[in-house]
Amino acid sequence: MASDPSAHPTRRRFLAETGRFAAASALAGTALPQVHLGGRESLKVALVGCGGRGGGAAVNALSVPGADLKLVAVADVFAAKPRQLAASLKEQFADKVDLPAERQFVGFDGYRRAMDCLDPGDIVILTTPPAFRWVHYALAIEKGLNVFMEKPVTVDGPTSKRMLELNAKAIEKGLRVGVGLMSRHNHGMRELKQRIADGELGEILFMRGYRMHGPAAFFRSLPKPEGISELMYQIQRFHSFLWASGGNFSDFNIHIIDHLCWMKGSWPTKAQGVGGRHYREGAEGVYIDQNFDSYAVEYTFADGAKLFFDGRCMTGCKEIYQSFAHGTKGMAVVSSQGDCGLPSGTFKSHVGGRADLLWQSKVPPDKQNPYQNEWDELIAAIREGRPHNEVESGIKTSLVTSMGRMAAHTGMEVKYEDILNGDHEFAPNVAELTLDSPAPLQLGDDGRYPMPMPGQKGMREY
Ligand SMILES: NC(=O)c1ccc[n+]([C@@H]2O[C@H](COP(=O)([O-])OP(=O)(O)OC[C@H]3O[C@@H](n4cnc5c(N)ncnc54)[C@H](O)[C@@H]3O)[C@@H](O)[C@H]2O)c1
Repeated sequence: MASDPSAHPTRRRFLAETGRFAAASALAGTALPQVHLGGRESLKVALVGCGGRGGGAAVNALSVPGADLKLVAVADVFAAKPRQLAASLKEQFADKVDLPAERQFVGFDGYRRAMDCLDPGDIVILTTPPAFRWVHYALAIEKGLNVFMEKPVTVDGPTSKRMLELNAKAIEKGLRVGVGLMSRHNHGMRELKQRIADGELGEILFMRGYRMHGPAAFFRSLPKPEGISELMYQIQRFHSFLWASGGNFSDFNIHIIDHLCWMKGSWPTKAQGVGGRHYREGAEGVYIDQNFDSYAVEYTFADGAKLFFDGRCMTGCKEIYQSFAHGTKGMAVVSSQGDCGLPSGTFKSHVGGRADLLWQSKVPPDKQNPYQNEWDELIAAIREGRPHNEVESGIKTSLVTSMGRMAAHTGMEVKYEDILNGDHEFAPNVAELTLDSPAPLQLGDDGRYPMPMPGQKGMREY
């Protein structure tokens, strides 16, 4: 199994996530002349959400060859995070990091204070759990900032509609916005997509995606311990709570769902699915989070083609973490391992194997890291004054992922319009949260968080 970068929110994690490739890019950066960015000598960068991926994205930003970027502000809701991240980035990037204590912000308004340190045309990185994405994006647009935001972009219908509206303003203002659905910056997959469009597989009949491995990240949670508020517990363990992350279905599976829809060149119109929680107790106690431990979702496209997705977080079962596309002339391995692992390949049969191989991707070493590629391309767009906005497809992928999750959680067939026009906003008060606020999700009388109950709650997930 490819390691899940969400699993350990530590410096070790974000360095591991990017380090293999970042070192080469950083070296390349010192060798190249600095180039003007959007008409300026250099750009300032602020980071909101100083966890594993935030650190990784900062490393990628500061490693873009030839770009004069300086990280000048960081924000988080946990006090130690900005300090720890600033120290480790300083160690790695020296003068590209200018983060005195007064520009390390803590609290729910930290994003505002971090963005106040920037000028129009600078860049803000949004790497909190997705519940906060629209709030932070709204301010970035108001301030005329370029943005890199992580996936998922939304977790429910109402915030997806809001993000679509916000994004129209970003496009109008000519802001460049990258979204961390990095499969789209995997050069092997890009060539595969072209080959599929050129007919190498014939007509696509069905696609298969799997993310099945042991419990990862904060997939499951015990009752809250003493010493942390309910709100902060839920934010810290965001994969366990639907309002914060869309749960493990959205957080873990979105990459494979995204790149399979991209291969197909369209979005599914409906989904149905099954899922359940087989193991609710372990040696450490009773898990009371909102996730199922297994999901099987069938998506249908307008032309009848299918996307089958299986997700499982269980120990001791077969592990599969890959994706495939099948057409009338043969099949493709889309991701050979993990969320978007090289190489991709096409085969003249539906069995695969060396004898039937038609093509296998070959990507030069300096283009093999999609996390770096997405940053190189964002900065190139800023530098060259080209439009670059990945948000609309990010929202649609987030919505389609939520559609599959909702189908499994409700036991109903869910159409794209059902999720888009749905009125269940999981955290309507997210923009007003303070450290003392009650959590958007409350424990029930049974001392557990409300669980999805297929067949019992109509079109509501909980
Ligand atoms: N593209 C990828 O492969 C990939 C990999 C990992 C994570 N991610 C995504 O990145 C995001 C963050 O994930 P992570 O693994 O880094 O989690 P993390 O918990 O390590 O980091 C998130 C950070 O955001 C902070 N935070 C939460 N709410 C905040 C707020 N309102 N304001 C400021 N800071 C806030 C948290 O305290 C934490 O430090 C998620 O959306 C996740 O899905 C993407």
